[in-house]
Amino acid sequence: MDNIKELTIEEKLKLLVGAKWFETYTANGKLTEIRMADGPHGVRKMKDDQTYEKSTAMPSLSLIANSWDRELAKLSAETIADECVELGVDVILAPGINIKRTPLCGRNFEYFSEDPYLTGELGKAFIKGVQDRGIGACVKHFVCNNCETDRRFLSSEVDKRTFNEIYLEPFRKVMEEKPWMVMSSYNPVNGVDMFRNKKMLKDVLRDKLKFDGAIVSDWYSVRNPADGVKATLDLTMPYREVYFPLLKSAYDDGYLTEEEIDVRVIKLLELIEKKKKADKIKKVKLTKEERHQNAVKIAEGGMVLLKNEDNILPIKSGNVLVLENYIKKNYPTGGGGSSTIDCDGEEFSFAEYIRKNSNANVEEYADSHMTCDGGFSHNLYRSVEKSYGKDAVLIQVMAKEESEGADRRTLKIPEVVENYIKALSNVNNNIVVMIFSGSAIDVSAFEHLVKGIIMVNFAGEGVKEALANIITGKTNPSGKLAETYPLSLEETPTKDDFGNVFTIPYKEGLFVGYRYYDSFDKEVRYPFGYGLSYTNFEYSDIKIDKQSDTDYEVSYTVKNVGEVDGREVSELYIRPLFSKVTRPEKELKAFSKDFIKAGEEKRVKVKLDFNSFAIYSTAFDKKIMEDGVYEVLVGASSRDIKLKGEIIKKTPDKYSIIKEDNITGLQD
Ligand code: GLC
Repeated sequence: MDNIKELTIEEKLKLLVGAKWFETYTANGKLTEIRMADGPHGVRKMKDDQTYEKSTAMPSLSLIANSWDRELAKLSAETIADECVELGVDVILAPGINIKRTPLCGRNFEYFSEDPYLTGELGKAFIKGVQDRGIGACVKHFVCNNCETDRRFLSSEVDKRTFNEIYLEPFRKVMEEKPWMVMSSYNPVNGVDMFRNKKMLKDVLRDKLKFDGAIVSDWYSVRNPADGVKATLDLTMPYREVYFPLLKSAYDDGYLTEEEIDVRVIKLLELIEKKKKADKIKKVKLTKEERHQNAVKIAEGGMVLLKNEDNILPIKSGNVLVLENYIKKNYPTGGGGSSTIDCDGEEFSFAEYIRKNSNANVEEYADSHMTCDGGFSHNLYRSVEKSYGKDAVLIQVMAKEESEGADRRTLKIPEVVENYIKALSNVNNNIVVMIFSGSAIDVSAFEHLVKGIIMVNFAGEGVKEALANIITGKTNPSGKLAETYPLSLEETPTKDDFGNVFTIPYKEGLFVGYRYYDSFDKEVRYPFGYGLSYTNFEYSDIKIDKQSDTDYEVSYTVKNVGEVDGREVSELYIRPLFSKVTRPEKELKAFSKDFIKAGEEKRVKVKLDFNSFAIYSTAFDKKIMEDGVYEVLVGASSRDIKLKGEIIKKTPDKYSIIKEDNITGLQD
């Protein structure tokens, strides 16, 4: 072990504040260097102050969430970790597991879902994929980092029950995979900056969630590293000349003791030991092409077919027009900011991939004068003219600015693009809209004017090939939405968030996403968990087997009654019929994604446990499972429930008066 006894106090302090942009201090070779890199969508290894190594651009976490596929989450992580090994990176700063509280968050493409269970399950799978390959995962951003506006100052104001059941829950869950690191977030929570929030970093993350790894700050989020040490922050990043003097004076003044410093140093030495141990096993297993094919496979699994009127898709033949007026040939592979990956282009054009997979006669047209903000040119009319008589017109749309550092101000796409679709639909409504976005879009301006809508998302470097495979039916779409598409921004529970001077009150409480829309019976455009396929599935024969006071196995049959093979995501929700506290109308507590051949069926089995029923009781300051009747709902989406069952939970009669130590499953 790199030995603390060999370090002077100055060297110890320098270890706590990073040495470069992504690397730790080595004390002239006494210490092994830890090299970190972003991010959740590929290895963004810094080459020099301004440039990064090229690497494989993987699909965004929001696309992976729409796949509802633990295996694809793990595969993406393994692929990224493989490239970390090749590029000499020890820790990947991923995954981001913040909840998609508002669809306006500019960074939603980097996060999984509005639901904590789905987020936790996929976050766990991602961390396992990274760490099984000998690379450390750094889970971020702890905690309640749910928007980008003034992210260093706006304090997330959240009540205790909401905090535990919604925002902390994914972090609780991923601890099962023992992540090497956790990154503290920019934003204050309930008025205290996270880098110096001892209540959160020590009492909650370390003591309550039993996190035993190293806590690193978000970059430039620390104003005084001495306060960070006091709060049990281990590593302030990146290097800044001012940090060491601040620490040194805090030590000289007695504000920091050597004991406090040593505890933080030991955490980082433990991290170094993990790296050294992993160095013995890790090796590159994938070629560049294999990584690329993984990106394509994952992208296919997370694209969501939202509308398919008259079965306009899949395209097998006929006259097709590909309009690349808006995004042009450079289909977005990801969103903006620290997750951006510089990758190679694809071998073929989108149209060529369609031609390769079908007998369609595909014409391409790009209005070369149209700017990305939707500025029009006279060529619009050429587009409309060309669309006349076509069997399918494929058109790209995307939200304005989805990037770290800024939030969207609208869910709509630029009005000129909406008008563009309207103009096209006047001569031909055989239109398929392809949405390149990592979060919900308001489609009300054009949804009724077109026959097909696909949520492409940010699909990585294989986006054109994957999208063409879906469009032509080479791959049957199987994605489902991991966040609700509301009718409009006005319909969202967080619509008037912004504009609070220094706080964002999470006044919706537990009612985030479908928990809000379903509890208050609000109409939505596309519900949580919704997605179409080129085949159909039928559900039958639910069975619930009790295995203990809190553990159950639920099984049911899913049959592919269509003509083509496909994958089906089945979702299990719990609806409490009696509760002594307010609870959402239903909550996702299990899911399964299953490949089922045409005409065949599969018996699906999922497990329920204490956390499937528990609430966080502010009365007992613990998680508890109430007595009561719980409906078990199995559905193809949160609003398409196919099967129902019932579980009755009763504390033994002899405990007629519920006393604290007699409530089942009282756990931290
Ligand atoms: C950024 C992001 C964080 C990233 C870090 C290093 O500001 O918030 O997600 O890992 O800094 O680039």
